[in-house]
Order: sequence, then C-alpha cells, then structure tokens
Amino acid sequence: MCGITGYIGPKAAIEIALETLKRLEYRGYDSAGVAFWDGQSLNVLKRAGKISNLIEMAGDIRADGLAVSHTRWATHGVPNDPNAHPQTDEEGQVAVVHNGIIENYLELRHELSARGHRFNSDTDTEVLAHLIEEQLETSDNPEEAVRLALQQVRGSYGIAVLFARFPDRIVIARNDSPLVIGLGEGETYLASDITAMLSYTRKVILLENGDLATIKRDEVRLYRLDGSSIERPPMHVDWSAEAAEKGGHEHFMIKEILEQPEAVRDTLRGRLKANGGIEFPDIKLEVEDWQRYRRILIVACGTAYHAGLIGKHIFEKWLRRPVEVYHSSEFRYGDPILHPQTLAIFISQSGETADTLAALRLCREAGYSTLGIVNAVGSSIARECDHVLYTQAGPEISVASTKAYSTQITALYMLGLFLSNVNGTLSMQQYTDATRGLMQAPSLISRSLEMEAQARQAAEALKEMPLAFYLGRGIDAYVAMEGALKIKEIAYVPTQECAAGEMKHGPLALVEPGVVAVFVATQARTREKILGNLKEIKARRGTVLLITSEGETDLPQEADYTLFAPKVEPEALSPLATIPLLQLFAYHVARLRGCEIDQPRNLAKSVTVE
Ligand code: AGP
Repeated sequence: MCGITGYIGPKAAIEIALETLKRLEYRGYDSAGVAFWDGQSLNVLKRAGKISNLIEMAGDIRADGLAVSHTRWATHGVPNDPNAHPQTDEEGQVAVVHNGIIENYLELRHELSARGHRFNSDTDTEVLAHLIEEQLETSDNPEEAVRLALQQVRGSYGIAVLFARFPDRIVIARNDSPLVIGLGEGETYLASDITAMLSYTRKVILLENGDLATIKRDEVRLYRLDGSSIERPPMHVDWSAEAAEKGGHEHFMIKEILEQPEAVRDTLRGRLKANGGIEFPDIKLEVEDWQRYRRILIVACGTAYHAGLIGKHIFEKWLRRPVEVYHSSEFRYGDPILHPQTLAIFISQSGETADTLAALRLCREAGYSTLGIVNAVGSSIARECDHVLYTQAGPEISVASTKAYSTQITALYMLGLFLSNVNGTLSMQQYTDATRGLMQAPSLISRSLEMEAQARQAAEALKEMPLAFYLGRGIDAYVAMEGALKIKEIAYVPTQECAAGEMKHGPLALVEPGVVAVFVATQARTREKILGNLKEIKARRGTVLLITSEGETDLPQEADYTLFAPKVEPEALSPLATIPLLQLFAYHVARLRGCEIDQPRNLAKSVTVE
C-alpha cells in the first residue's frame, strides 16, 4: 500500500512531510518522493529505495510552507526513479501523488499522447498530471481542473496535487483509497493513514469516496466530484500510534484478513470486465500463444503452494489440461518430466522465495514459458518470469499469508477462465456463471468475514485442542490444507491435514477424545461421503468443527460447531467463501492462546534462503 503525507503551514514543510512519511514505512514500499514549493517554483525530489535516500537528497533545502510526499508500492511500472511519485506533467506545472489503481490509464495515455503529451514514466498515475495540466490550459481554477480530470478516470485513488501557479493550496481527492486531513492552528496536515500525523494533531477529517478538498494553511473546503459543497465534521482520534499502524486492529494479521475484499477487488480491477470479458493488459501474448499450452506446471511454497492446488483443480476442471503442482523445494531436486508446450506458473507473494526462484531458473534454462503470480512488483521472480500477473494485495506484513492467498486464487480463477475462453472448453453458460460468481468475490468474502463472532466462539470452545485434523474432499481438501497451515504457524497447534477419504487408511488412529476435526464441506458431489467421515470422528468421541455452505442442514447435525460460509456458484469458487472462516478461526485460537501472531517463532515472512 502506498503512503501519502502533506503539510501546509509556517513550519519546515519538507521536514514534516518526510518525517510523517517515515511513520508509514511499515506498510512497505519501494520508492519515495516529495514535491514542495521553495518560494519561487514547484520542485520534486524522488528516488527508488528508502526514504532515507530522500532525506539525504533534501539535505537542508527549505520549503516555503508547502510539501507533499509519497511512498510507492509499485503496481504499474517497476520501482525506479522515473516511476516514483510525485508524477508531473511535462512542464512541471502539476505534481501528483497517488494511492490506488487507474483502471483506464492505458486508454487515457493513448488519448493524451495523441494530443501531444509526452510521458516520462510507466505508471498509471502520470495520466492524472497530464489530465489536470490540460484542464489548467484554459482555466484558473485548480479545484475545477482536478474535478474535471477525475471525471475521466475509472479506478481507485487517493491523490494530492500541488500547482506551480497556486502554491497556497493542496487539492486532494478520494475514491477507495483513504485520505485524512489533520487540523492544526494555522497549519494543516494530510495523510493516507492517521498514524502519520498523530504526533502533530488528533483533530482529523476523514474523506469519503467521491470527496475532494482544498487545503490551505487555515482553511479546508470540501466538495464532491459533481461540484457540490459538503461538510464533514472533524473527529478526535485517541488511538495510540502503534494501534493506528494496524488501522486500530490488534495485529496486522486481522487487519489483512479484513482487507481481503478490497485486495480481491483490486486484483480483479482492470482485468475482469463488467461484461464478463477477461483481459491481462500487462501480458503481451496473442490468443494463439495461449492456445499452445497443452500442460500446466505450478511451482510454489507454503500458502502459495496451497493456492496452486486450487489452480490445479480449476485448470483441470475448466480447461481439461493436465496440471502438476510441485513444492518448489521438491521440484528443483526432482526429475520432473516437462513437456515443451508447458506453461510453468510460479506463485509467490514476496517474489523472493529462494526455492521458487531456483525452480523458475531451471524452467527458463529448459526454455519453457514462465508466468509469475506475484504480489511484490519488480521482485526477482517477477523480473525473471516471461510474464507476470500481479496480485494487488498491497504489502502483507504479517508472516502468515491471508490476503495474499485470496488474491492468488483470484488471479488463478481469472487465468483459468481466460484460458478456458481462448480454448473453448467451457460452454457460454458455464463461463458466464463463473465470471458472474467471480465478480461477486469481494462481497462474498465480506459476508464470510461477518461470521467473525461465530469463529471466535468456536475458537473459545476449542482453543485447548491438542491436535487438529483438517479434512475435506476435492477442492475443500485444498482449502483445509491452507487452514491447517494457518493454525499451525500462528497458534502452534499440531495438525493432520489430509483428504477426508484418507482417514481410514491411517490417520484415524490418532482420533481420541479431545482431538478436533475441522471439516471443509461445500461440494454437493461429496456431501454424503463427508457425512460418513463426520460420523467416523464422532464415533471415536472426537470433536467436529464444520465449515459448510449456508442452507446445508444434514451435515451440521453431526457437528459440534458449524460455521456457515455464503453459498457460491459455481462450487469451484467456494474457497473464496471458506478460507476467511479458517483464517478467522486460526487467528482467534492463536489470540486466545496468547501467541505472538504477526511474527510467529522460527518463521520469516520471506524465505530467501534455501
Ligand atoms: C504462509 O502463511 C507462510 N507465510 C509461508 O508458507 C509462505 O506462504 C511461503 O514461504 C511462500 O512465500 P512466498 O509466497 O513469498 O513465495
């Protein structure tokens, strides 16, 4: 997630802008920049890398009371100096910092280029600077210029704009990316996150979607995208700085679990169209190129591996292509039989996992097409894959992956549907049903997250469990494996995860009173078999927690606790609805057991060693 801070007032603006920006470093970023007024002109300093580089560059430059700064988490365009924010127009009349994704930036960029605008970066954000500057060619009203420019834009944004001709103000606007105004005495602060300004002011105004504002030293004026004025009363923030970093949540993990609807929405944005069409603007492959692939290989670790198993299920179901999924560490030391027409997919949140990177290099040496499903833009795996389908989860701080997983499977669902379309392996009705279901994913996840209280109650009842089975059949078994990893890594609960049908071939010996069996059961096809498995556990006085779909009546009768996930069609999309419940259950068990949660013992967020 990018960070924005700003200041307008009598003090040293660059110093305050960068000092408050440092409060947002925890969110992760790969470049930083600041725009400021030095008394004569509008200036921009920006660099790939850390804010400390910027502070060094700024040295003892004095800004005349106006500065806006930004940390960038790359979404479009690798982390380098030109792609850092602020982005400006050719003449440097307008400087823009932006959080979010401009969905229609490519078409705007083509139109602006046709009108003679010259671009200096690969970012989506730069189109905003040119659109605003274009409005100012025939207007002396910066607020109007921003408003009319934004009316041409589709997507999410939190922006702050400085103007060479109007150095007495900052114009800001919000749509899906938070912005907060901090009120001082004769000075005004701005940030994308309350954390940044708490040491300066606790009197804040939170912008709503569709709001714009003009900020001056002792005046804040709010208005809407349609030009109408609006009032938003200030509020007082009594959070501690540490609590504010986590958005008021106790841990990054719960914050990131709850961010999943937005993360999945951002991953779908600009790719899954309202008419059900799917495009990957960043992947330069023709239809016949995609049709060449007769086999699919998926290589990943941990949570990313579990996402890959979901990919296997849907590619084999929708595409009717053989799919092999490997743990990265096993792939590189095995003797995999690779077929020339293989699409090798590498899934990685960090893009730096050593085993996955090594496996990627093996495939590249063998000359196979490589596609990365990666969260960190410009990371090693992203750079070394032929093609990349970025997840847009934003920085994931907690070691336990949650929003990374849901955005990875979202990317796989889109890829599976896209490939089924170019290969004609789904009927129009099947394709339409699946894309319609996928479009609902953000609200589906939101509805699952509304079950948090029930998940917490189950956690309270089961928190002392000595051993937990995680069981399911088909795609549910793959979700169960991810649920097991969660409770293992943050609550240190020993788990036995397997296909439910495997229980009687050995694991059942472990069942005794006190052992808990967590079942994931959403598939109609295996429902009767799951009923039998539930009875197997109950007959041996195990305790059952059932995760099933709303409307299911028979299975809950055999369970001690049941969490209902929203029913989703087609059933292949059910992981989007069930995984949030398993994440919430694991989180609350860990919390009740007094575990560290965000930084579990023995684990690292990115395993960059073999
Ligand atoms: C999962 O919660 C862990 N953080 C871990 O298994 C992780 O998924 C694995 O190390 C892969 O990391 P990557 O996605 O960054 O490659």
